[in-house]
Amino acid sequence: MRVYHDEDIDLDLLRGRTVAVIGYGSQGRAQALNMRDSGLDVVIGLRRGASWTRAEEEGFDVHPVSEAAELGDIIVMLIPDMAQPKVYEDQIRPHLSEGKTLQFAHGFNIHFGRITPPEFVDVIMVAPKAPGPEMRRQYEAGFGVPALVAVHQDYTGEARAKALAMAKAIGSGRVGILETTFREETESDLFGEQAVLCGGVDQLIRRGFKVLVEAGYPPELAYFEVLNELKLIVDLIYRQGISGMYRAVSETARYGGLSIGPAIIDDHVEENMRRALKAVRDGGFAERWIEEYERGCPELQRLLEECENLEIERVGREIRRMAGGV
Ligand SMILES: NC(=O)c1ccc[n+]([C@@H]2O[C@H](COP(=O)([O-])OP(=O)(O)OC[C@H]3O[C@@H](n4cnc5c(N)ncnc54)[C@H](OP(=O)(O)O)[C@@H]3O)[C@@H](O)[C@H]2O)c1
Ligand SMILES: [Mg+2]
Repeated sequence: MRVYHDEDIDLDLLRGRTVAVIGYGSQGRAQALNMRDSGLDVVIGLRRGASWTRAEEEGFDVHPVSEAAELGDIIVMLIPDMAQPKVYEDQIRPHLSEGKTLQFAHGFNIHFGRITPPEFVDVIMVAPKAPGPEMRRQYEAGFGVPALVAVHQDYTGEARAKALAMAKAIGSGRVGILETTFREETESDLFGEQAVLCGGVDQLIRRGFKVLVEAGYPPELAYFEVLNELKLIVDLIYRQGISGMYRAVSETARYGGLSIGPAIIDDHVEENMRRALKAVRDGGFAERWIEEYERGCPELQRLLEECENLEIERVGREIRRMAGGV
């Protein structure tokens, strides 16, 4: 896989073009600020509300989505994935003219056919592999977060160059830009957040906590052991790799982790992961999520409340409050 950096990419391609960032949330705000600091001409598209006020306070020209879509040569879709198809149909599609670019930060709507742009525009993706606020922090510190770029449709012949330039503008060329496809990005992103990043880690923590507390250990102790300290271990893995982490922990932790870990996360878990990946790939998960969203997210609401009421959450809130956190 080729990795692109700042020196491989020309930002001049974007000079004289207007970028319309639709949405000013996690990604929208961070991307818009980074692009502006990189010298791009950025306007924001929103509905009246909290984000509108914030974007204006932070010095942007803010417009209703349809106006921004009209002004933008490159239209960047940074509102929630589930909200995109309707906003696209009503407020963006009418303002797409020949040679414009529609950009996504995640392939979901294009890959699952929920948005089908006309053939006379470029359709690209720049997907930063980090939450928005972290991307902004890194950019301000002179670094960046990695990004994936992809081209779904190349009408002008410049689609790929534009995607690379947009990725550079948000700071990703400082660390590395990888080229992929909408399909690969969508499937790997959904799998990652379900199996490892959000879902997997959540369950690992909750179950570790439950086992300790059920065996009679104090909840505060269990919290520090299976949640708080996880951050320090992940930081080590991030900086030095998995074996680097093992070299940094005690000899006993090294032997215990390497020899017992495979009996905890065993073949059965791997089978579950394969099943989750299959549902991502055959569209089963997307269908289920779209249905849930259209019903008003009752299951999502219930699961989140259940999570908020877990003992580990109550203990954690108290510990973080006493530690002066939020
Ligand atoms: N979150 C991440 O770190 C992350 C990472 C990589 C990729 N992505 C992708 O980036 C995209 C945006 O995700 P996000 O998490 O940044 O979204 P988000 O923070 O949930 O987006 C919220 C923003 O969208 C606006 N919005 C919502 N519905 C709208 C509507 N109907 N009309 C106009 N504006 C509307 C909100 O404005 P109001 O204040 O008016 O509600 C707010 O500014 C998604 O494709 C996502 O998959 C996200
Ligand atoms: Mg995702």
